[in-house]
Order: sequence, then structure tokens, then C-alpha cells
Amino acid sequence: MTQRILLTGGAGYIGSHTYVALVEAGYDVTILDNFQNANRSVIARLEDLTGQPVTLAEADVRDATTLASLFAEHVFDAVVHFAALKAVGESVERPLDYFDVNISGLINLLRVMDAAGCRKIVFSSSATVYGVPDETPTPETAEFRAMNPYGQTKISGEQILNQLVAADDRWQIGILRYFNPAGAHESHLIGEDPRDTPNNLMPFIAKVAAGEVEELEVFGDDYDTQDGTGVRDYIHVDDLARGHVLSVAALLEDGQSHLVNLGTGEGHSVMEMIAAYKRASNRDIPHRVVDRRAGDVPIYVAKADKAEEVLGFRTEKTLDEMCASSWAWITGPHSQEDPDGEDNT
Ligand code: NAD
Ligand code: UD1
Repeated sequence: MTQRILLTGGAGYIGSHTYVALVEAGYDVTILDNFQNANRSVIARLEDLTGQPVTLAEADVRDATTLASLFAEHVFDAVVHFAALKAVGESVERPLDYFDVNISGLINLLRVMDAAGCRKIVFSSSATVYGVPDETPTPETAEFRAMNPYGQTKISGEQILNQLVAADDRWQIGILRYFNPAGAHESHLIGEDPRDTPNNLMPFIAKVAAGEVEELEVFGDDYDTQDGTGVRDYIHVDDLARGHVLSVAALLEDGQSHLVNLGTGEGHSVMEMIAAYKRASNRDIPHRVVDRRAGDVPIYVAKADKAEEVLGFRTEKTLDEMCASSWAWITGPHSQEDPDGEDNT
């Protein structure tokens, strides 16, 4: 029988790519999203892409009543939990909102799952749980260091899940620590929503290449890295999506809880990213070195072999593919749709 997965935050950047990967792998998938950070038109585009209607619950993950009725309507075999707030700077301004959505939302979801007897969950964690790590590439055994309220919510989420499994062995969890997701689906129908001024490097470079923003500020060139600029492990969002399919399969088939980094194991500097995006877009990327960003980490690179051992996960897409797909998405018709979800194309 086809297995059914609940995807919270499934209309968002990583969630929408994972939706496509799960449907392609043969799962029935229900999306729960409140569209707090997603465009409603993504649902129609997912339907175009998969050739199937999307089963959607428009709801807040903190709404226990709606969640319970969803679990009464469908038997879910597992949940992939993306729904969260994710902007580091905003988390410093509004920490309680972050604790509420990211921690209370998780607990609420776990309670409803428990009552329904669905006890398999994949959790979106982040390399941010390592703070400034002692070791690079960073293994999963590195200690937790909260740098900001957002990072704290990911640490707390992991700890809650670990204690839950320790207390009740009917639960199985997959904790996936993403490094830096980049790029867009090869169809160019879905990608990272660029409506607001982005804080992250890739969407910012994309806006500069497109001429929407005048120049990129490079946050420091005096780090102990190949060219002095910050180094990150950029992973194609389609590879990341595939990692979720493998994690779900591991939970459903072997019932094995797991904790893995999802990254490539390779680092690229800001200057290398500018050069790669220039190649992909054939545009100039004006940039200027400014001071370091407060609280920034010099290098984040994943030790990536555990994901291969445990899940058989290896990244397949290159940095050039990340940049080319990002450029195709940002210059395509869909990235500029109305925030209210009307498709203007
Ligand atoms: P996103 O904002 O694009 O997606 C999150 C989705 O959750 C959005 O569609 C949003 O509308 C929805 N959502 C938010 N609050 C909700 C609520 N209360 N109830 C229901 N839905 C809600 O973000 P993303 O980049 O796709 O990230 C997905 C997950 O991965 C998040 O948990 C994030 O913390 C984590 N993560 C992201 C990155 C990254 O760089 N993008 C890195 C590491 C971890
Ligand atoms: C940020 C978040 C982190 C989150 C991750 C993925 C912060 C402090 N951390 O990390 O919690 O998990 O995104 O969503 O925000 N850079 C520039 N100019 C820019 C933007 C970035 O030079 O305009 C540099 C940064 O200094 C860094 C690199 O580009 O060296 C990547 O930055 P960014 O995309 O913001 O990701 P992270 O810093 O890894």
C-alpha cells in the first residue's frame, strides 16, 4: 500500500523540493503550511510539476485542533517537519516568536502524532547547532553551541527528540543537519522565494547579478581561509531533497533513528561563489569588501561520510549546477509572482 507522509512547511523552499522528490519516489504526500513564508502559487506549480493534485492543509503547526483532525482524516506513516521560522537576525529581535513556532510547534506536532500512533519524524536541523566549531570538516559529534535564538531552537528541537526516543522506544527520528542549501529545481518552477531582501549569500548574489541590487557586500576578507573570505559547504536543494527521501525510507523500512550532516564535504569562499555565479549568469557581480558580519563563522564544512554510511547519501550536483539553476529560476517568470499568490504569468 502507498505510504502517506505529512510535510509541514511543504510550501517553503526546501519543503517544496522535497515534496517533488517524495512524490517521485511513490509516496502520498500531504502538505501543511500556513504560508507565513511561502507563496500560495507554489501549490499550482507543484501540481504542474508532478501532474497530480496537491493535498493541502492550510494551517499553523501550533494549531492542535486542526492537526488532530488532519490525523483523524489520514493515516500518516511519517512526518517530515520543515515548518519553522529561520531568519537569524529576526530571531534576535523576536526570540519568543522563534521559541513559540520552532519549539512549541514541534511539541504540539509530537503530541498529535503520539495520540494518532504515528511516531516517525524527520526533523530539519542546521549546521548552526555547531556555533563556531573546533573542527573542520565538522563531524556530528561536535558539541552544541547556540549562537542566537534561532540556533537555540534547533538545539532544543534535537534534544527534545532525543529525550523522547530515549524515554519511549516506539519513536524513530531522523535528524538532518543541513549545511548551506542553494540552487533551484531543474524545472525552474520552484526555487527560493526572493521577495524580500535576502540575508543569505546565494539569493543576494542572484539579485546583484539580475541588477536588482547594486552591489554585494563581502563580509570580511581577513579570515584564515584560502582568500580571506568566509567559507561554506553549499549543497544543491535537489540533493538535500533526496536526502529526505532516504531518511524517510530508513525510518519506514528499518525503523532506524539517525542523525546526519547533509553537506558535500567541500567548502567554497565568498570570492569563489562570486566567480561561479558570474560564469553561470554571464553577468558582472559588483562587490565591495566591508567589515566582518557580527557573529559570523569563518568556516562551515560538513564531515559528510556518516550520511553516506547510514543513508547511502552522496551529493550529485556541482556548484556550477547550483548557480545555473538559481539563475534560471530568478530570471524565469515564476520567481516574481505576487506575494498574495496570484500567478501573473
Ligand atoms: P522556508 O521559510 O522557505 O520554509 C518554511 C515553511 O514553513 C514556509 O512555507 C512557511 O510558510 C512555513 N511555516 C512557517 N511557520 C509555520 C507555522 N507556524 N505553521 C505552518 N507552517 C509554517 O524555509 P526553508 O529554507 O525551506 O527551511 C525549512 C526548514 O529547514 C526550517 O526548519 C529551517 O529552519 C531549516 N533549515 C533551513 C536552512 C536554509 O538555509 N534554508 C538551513 C538549515 C535548516
Ligand atoms: C546563515 C545563518 C545560519 C543558517 C544559514 C543557512 C547567520 C549568522 N547564520 O549562515 O544560521 O543556518 O544561513 O540558512 O545568518 N556573506 C557575504 N555577504 C552577504 C551575505 C553573506 O559576504 O551579503 C558571506 C557570509 O559572511 C558567509 C557566507 O557569505 O561567509 C555565507 O553566508 P550566509 O548565506 O548568510 O550563510 P551562513 O553564514 O552560513
